[in-house]
Amino acid sequence: MSRLCFVLTENSIEECLEVYNNLETKVDIVELRLDFLNEESQSNLDKFKIDVPVILTFRKKVDGGLYDGDEEYRLCILKKGIETGNYSFVDLEEDLPVTDLDTLAKDKGVRVIRSFHDFNGVPENLANRLMGIKKDSDEIPKAAVMINSIKELLSFYKEAQSIANEEKIILGMGNYGFNTRILAEKIGSYLTFTSKESGKAAPGHATPDVLDSVYRFKNINSDTNVMGIIGNPVMHTKSPVIHNKGYKQLGLDSTYVPFEVDDLSLFLEVASMLDIKGFSVTVPFKNDIIPLLDSITDGVKEIGACNTVTNIDGKWIGENTDYVGFINPLIREYGDLRGKKVSVIGAGGAAKAALFALKNEGAEVLILNRTVEKAKELAEQFNVKYCPLNSESAEDIKEYSDVIVQTTNVGMHPLEHIDPLSFYNFTGNEFLYDIIYAPEETLFLKKGKEAGCKILNGWDMLLEQGYRQFKLFTGYDYPIK
Ligand code: ATR
Repeated sequence: MSRLCFVLTENSIEECLEVYNNLETKVDIVELRLDFLNEESQSNLDKFKIDVPVILTFRKKVDGGLYDGDEEYRLCILKKGIETGNYSFVDLEEDLPVTDLDTLAKDKGVRVIRSFHDFNGVPENLANRLMGIKKDSDEIPKAAVMINSIKELLSFYKEAQSIANEEKIILGMGNYGFNTRILAEKIGSYLTFTSKESGKAAPGHATPDVLDSVYRFKNINSDTNVMGIIGNPVMHTKSPVIHNKGYKQLGLDSTYVPFEVDDLSLFLEVASMLDIKGFSVTVPFKNDIIPLLDSITDGVKEIGACNTVTNIDGKWIGENTDYVGFINPLIREYGDLRGKKVSVIGAGGAAKAALFALKNEGAEVLILNRTVEKAKELAEQFNVKYCPLNSESAEDIKEYSDVIVQTTNVGMHPLEHIDPLSFYNFTGNEFLYDIIYAPEETLFLKKGKEAGCKILNGWDMLLEQGYRQFKLFTGYDYPIK
């Protein structure tokens, strides 16, 4: 079973002990990073004694650490550390020749982790290179490589799977590599690294709490079903929290992980390799994924956007749960939409799902978009009215103001300071629905609320579309409590 390793990057032994003792999630191994310690603590390594095995690492700047001093001093501190008997592992870099340090480690029963780092990308022949760096049969080889694209992720998984049964540590750094840290057990990595804050020890660390409670790291085994979400950017998504919570409550052997994607065809190869049973699709791939699928539902065809892909007997099937996710909370909060006059801001994939749903409910719709040609295109497709998203349209909006729906990313980071309807004065009778859920209240909603409007954000939509996906991915109803 892959172990959860917590990397300590405090300045003193005392602080390291305090951080370790306050960890909420039990970890299996700790890595003490000597390059973060002050000199006094570096010479008091006997004072660091805890109840789990510890890796002693003194990382140089060239390998992604902080130390750029004298090599003799570095090796001397490592030796002193090994002599304390408090440490189970020592991390020695690939380029370090075999010296009496290795002999000392062997005599003291300290295992050597022989490591190499590549911050440029995934090297060719990663598997051979990794297994070739061992200088003694008892060493654990370690490779930490930056993953810059989905192409590199594919090559990483191919290489890692070819040595799945070998003892080693292998991980991908950066956003594209985040999923490799969660799926460490799937690729037979001896451990996965976590830390208190991402980016300090290495790019892409999660906290042990997130790995364990969100991704259920300790439950992942070689049979665990992998599901996921693709997008770009994707790391901010709350969908893993929703799906993984459902798996936990129903005791399903599955995990749902984020994949940052820059090439959809190559992602489908990754998905086949990891035997992914289903994945969610978010911005900006809801349209572009469609031509790559084996089949799509009528809903996807009509809406022209797909947010859910399932794997049925090796075939990729596209569905859309956004429109149900969109409309159910609105009906719950607002009521019957038949004959109601509704303005929709935006003309992208999310707007299409909203339009499809609103038309189905019998609402009369006006589309507003910055690029008016796109509004026109959609208006023709759905046989509704359209106008530009500017002050010229204020009178039209007034006419279509029972409900005003906001479907663009305006109001969300980094556009949180923009109100797409800044030119419009609410009467207080409009019902406002923004499909953004972070921030909880966009400027659009805030301004409406101040004017007395009833408001609804996108959180319930996120949940509802996620519940439908959960059913499609697992066959079970989401356990709402
Ligand atoms: P999605 O699939 O999430 O709907 P999309 O297809 O990229 O994403 O659509 C983004 C929507 O946000 C579009 O309506 C876009 O308007 P344009 O068609 O004019 O590009 C809208 N949008 C994005 N940034 C905007 C901004 N700064 N002001 C107004 N509208 C914006």
